[in-house]
Amino acid sequence: MNSVKELVESNCLKSVPSNYICLKNSEDSILCETQNIPTIDFSKLTSSNPNERSTAIQQLGDACRDWGFFMLINHGMSETLRDELLRGSQGFFDMSVEDKREFAGEKLFDPIKCGTSFNVMVDKTLFWRDYLKCHVHPHFNAPSKPPGFREIIEEYSRKSREVVGELLRGISHSLGVEENYIHKRMNVEMGSQVFVVNFYPPCPKPDLVMGLPAHTDHGLLTLLMQNEVGGLQIQHNGNWIPVHPLPNCFLINTGDHMEILTNGKYKSVMHRAVVNNKVVRISIGIAHGPPLDSIVEPALELLPKDNPPAYRAITYRDYLQLQQSHQLDRNSCLDRIR
Ligand code: SIN
Ligand code: FE2
Repeated sequence: MNSVKELVESNCLKSVPSNYICLKNSEDSILCETQNIPTIDFSKLTSSNPNERSTAIQQLGDACRDWGFFMLINHGMSETLRDELLRGSQGFFDMSVEDKREFAGEKLFDPIKCGTSFNVMVDKTLFWRDYLKCHVHPHFNAPSKPPGFREIIEEYSRKSREVVGELLRGISHSLGVEENYIHKRMNVEMGSQVFVVNFYPPCPKPDLVMGLPAHTDHGLLTLLMQNEVGGLQIQHNGNWIPVHPLPNCFLINTGDHMEILTNGKYKSVMHRAVVNNKVVRISIGIAHGPPLDSIVEPALELLPKDNPPAYRAITYRDYLQLQQSHQLDRNSCLDRIR
């Protein structure tokens, strides 16, 4: 199995193999440090004080509309769980190649898949990233090693479904419909949940490679946690904004299916990951969407009058297949269903 981690460790690398070198244009490397991603206080969103709750819902709606990204604080998940998950993830990638090979799935919907790069079937360059991907809901799948990792993933998946459930209630409210609207329409209780660990080893020439190319996420909401190492950048008003990880805070983003459902009111925003030459960066994303066989299309109730649907109906499964079969660097798969 190819992996960036093994490449780095076996060669004591001083340069980067040519198949990892990404052509970047100079504008793409200019970062805008002056804008801050909005912060949402989860404890206010779930508060019994109606004023506090409605202010938080308003802020949530604004963040989804204007940014497609927000930081979530006071989410109630313990730091111990976060630390255990990061430790388990490091432990997984530290296993021998033989141990990891057991989980090297090949197909898109394999319940557990460990691999490297982004979309190797179609991408012309490789990316400086190894990953583990598990479908954790409605059926739970996770690797049986290292010891204890599976149980931590299970607990984390359950808790993030609770957090995302509340966020989706707040989002329904912010769209002017009853709070269980998205739950019912998207059958969220039976929805798909995909857990992904991104492992970015240090790179001798970080400016020549990308950890992940610019892309949008497919589901309704992605919840991302990361170790203390920065590397994520998001697009906002034509600028790239670096995300500085804050302790015990999640980053949440609206995905393509939220954009489809709201007919573009809540956007699915481009983001990418860069790497560094010193330390390992780990990020853990967990994507929440409808069941794979549900058909998703713009919700008529949410459309202003005379506003035609901007996307055609498609099942989540077909959408994922479409996304996998095209090279998407800088292009959203949404463009293929307009
Ligand atoms: C992702 O977009 O899936 C991960 C981004 C990151 O590594 O922060
Ligand atoms: Fe992403």
